[in-house]
Amino acid sequence: MTTSPKGTALITGASTGLGAVYADRLARRGYDLILVARDAGRLAALAETLGNDTGRTVDILRADLTDAGDLAAVEARLADDAAITLLVNNAGMSLNGGLLDSTPAELERIIALNITAPTRLARAAGNAFVGRGAGGIINIASVLALAPEMFDGVYSGTKAYLLNLSHSLAAQVEGKGVRVQAVLPGATRTEIWERSGKDIDSFPAEWVMEAGDLVDAALLGFDRGETVTIPPLANEGQWIAFEAARHAMDGKLSNRAVAERYREAVDA
Ligand SMILES: NC(=O)c1ccc[n+]([C@@H]2O[C@H](COP(=O)([O-])OP(=O)(O)OC[C@H]3O[C@@H](n4cnc5c(N)ncnc54)[C@H](OP(=O)(O)O)[C@@H]3O)[C@@H](O)[C@H]2O)c1
Repeated sequence: MTTSPKGTALITGASTGLGAVYADRLARRGYDLILVARDAGRLAALAETLGNDTGRTVDILRADLTDAGDLAAVEARLADDAAITLLVNNAGMSLNGGLLDSTPAELERIIALNITAPTRLARAAGNAFVGRGAGGIINIASVLALAPEMFDGVYSGTKAYLLNLSHSLAAQVEGKGVRVQAVLPGATRTEIWERSGKDIDSFPAEWVMEAGDLVDAALLGFDRGETVTIPPLANEGQWIAFEAARHAMDGKLSNRAVAERYREAVDA
């Protein structure tokens, strides 16, 4: 067993779903792995299978990313392990309800897992990667970042945050050898639906992507250097037009004068 020339990928939420598929695909691409999640039994089983199948070194790091001590341990691994070349910020959860019918503790928990953890891990990895002049950060957001009315705003808001963070971080590290990608899946067949009291089979079948297809497409987008990859969006021109409309406001969003349509309130 030799250390991979690709380096090591640290994947959060690797015990099942998209994270487990990323683990499989990245090991087959030649990465060693650090698998992070709470279920140590599932992580150990996956590590053994992937290690046997690919010959790569697969470590597990059991962590509840909503726990301050566990999160700090994952941050420390990212900061200290110079073999790490890729962070996949994938762990996430949805709510069994919405803003008005969730408890404060449930709201704190989704924000801790979907926002605080990936933010702190991106900071730790980003600083290490910039220091070495190489590395990649993949943030798993959601198409709901673009469609808040379709779902609960707390979940979609956490994903809009990750999209925003990815745009900004990509710009900050440009030219420093570090790549940042936000992946926006649509409905994808994983446990996240039943974990949050929903039935994926209640959706029309043509809306639901298989996890393997999602990850394969997202990694092709990563290979192509995309900052935002939306595997289910058939018409890429719609995304390009959306970004063009957003950037058309660049330089026009801060102004000493209020806009003409509000001037009567100021001039009165
Ligand atoms: N599936 C979809 O339709 C869909 C669509 C858009 C975006 N996404 C996003 O894709 C990402 C992956 O989701 P998925 O669909 O693969 O979900 P999933 O099947 O429910 O897997 C979630 C993963 O996160 C881990 N996890 C959950 N809570 C954790 C915690 N407190 N600390 C550490 N790890 C934790 C879980 O492992 P343990 O239980 O072992 O901790 C599991 O490995 C999420 O960010 C999700 O929001 C999914």
